[in-house]
Amino acid sequence: MLLAFDHADIPALEAAWSDRMLHFEGGKPSTRAEELEGLKKRKAGPPYIATRTWSDESVQIGTDDALFIGKATEVQGGNDSHGGYRYVGWYVLQWARETSPDRQSAWKLRLWTWQKGGQASVRDSWNEIFRNNVGFEKEPNRLLVEVIQGLKPGTALDLAMGQGRNALHLAARGWKTTGIDISDEGIRIAREEAAKRKLTLTTVNANIDDWDFGTEKWDLIAMIYPGDAHIPWIEKSKKGLKAGGTFVLEYFAADPDHPDGSYLPGQLAKLFEGRAFTILRDDLVDDRPDWAMDKARLVRFVARKNR
Ligand SMILES: C[S@@+](CC[C@H](N)C(=O)[O-])C[C@H]1O[C@@H](n2cnc3c(N)ncnc32)[C@H](O)[C@@H]1O
Repeated sequence: MLLAFDHADIPALEAAWSDRMLHFEGGKPSTRAEELEGLKKRKAGPPYIATRTWSDESVQIGTDDALFIGKATEVQGGNDSHGGYRYVGWYVLQWARETSPDRQSAWKLRLWTWQKGGQASVRDSWNEIFRNNVGFEKEPNRLLVEVIQGLKPGTALDLAMGQGRNALHLAARGWKTTGIDISDEGIRIAREEAAKRKLTLTTVNANIDDWDFGTEKWDLIAMIYPGDAHIPWIEKSKKGLKAGGTFVLEYFAADPDHPDGSYLPGQLAKLFEGRAFTILRDDLVDDRPDWAMDKARLVRFVARKNR
């Protein structure tokens, strides 16, 4: 059926498609008549898809219905000079045994769906969240606000700063702040807000996994809802802090009741144990997180690098 579609083989498709066939790839589903209309307009030429490679195929067959599910990697036809676009997506094709007025029964395609597959990138997922602008607290994180109250402003690094709610607060309180995030949309919003509020904010649009924090460079490093446990970021923070510098973290805690959390009780303390750091706070609390959910178990952690 798909080959017939690629080659605009209308008689083959008319035979394969149920009168009630629907084709859905997002937007409004199209009917058999609309599809045939579109095919008639297609100019003769190379096939719509030049190659299609399947994986994860499965078939379920009942007495009068059958379902095909498969993941296809497709290369667009007719663009050999530049290389055809590549699509990865899931097909679901539902067939039904239909009986015609002359009592002949035949398998006909009823529903044809295709959905973009593959993993959305971390950047795209967060960009979408920041564009939608819901699901998170817009005020600065309370722990961070509280911690900096007693500190003399210096250089601050806000890891995974998102749309900048915390970095902007630091900048407003006189910290020479750098915010880093993988989401260009988050960075854009933070920069716009900084300009509006006439604040100086340095932004870095990068993957923190690949970014060098430097050595003894920061008076404060904030890791507020970093999106995952990111233990290597903590190790780089320890090195990046100046003597006397402060590390602040708030995130979801993990325990048997909260298996989705990131940090196990005592895990952060272990990372900061020894003579180099003093742990000022390591609280496990049930509270309203800044991101998602009305209630969760959180860890609020603060450590100071000893002089
Ligand atoms: C839950 S949000 C928190 C944002 C901000 N800290 C706050 O509390 O409002 C997690 C952030 O981590 C960022 N992020 C996730 N993985 C990253 C990576 N590898 N490098 C840089 N930023 C990353 C996301 O883009 C997102 O802005």
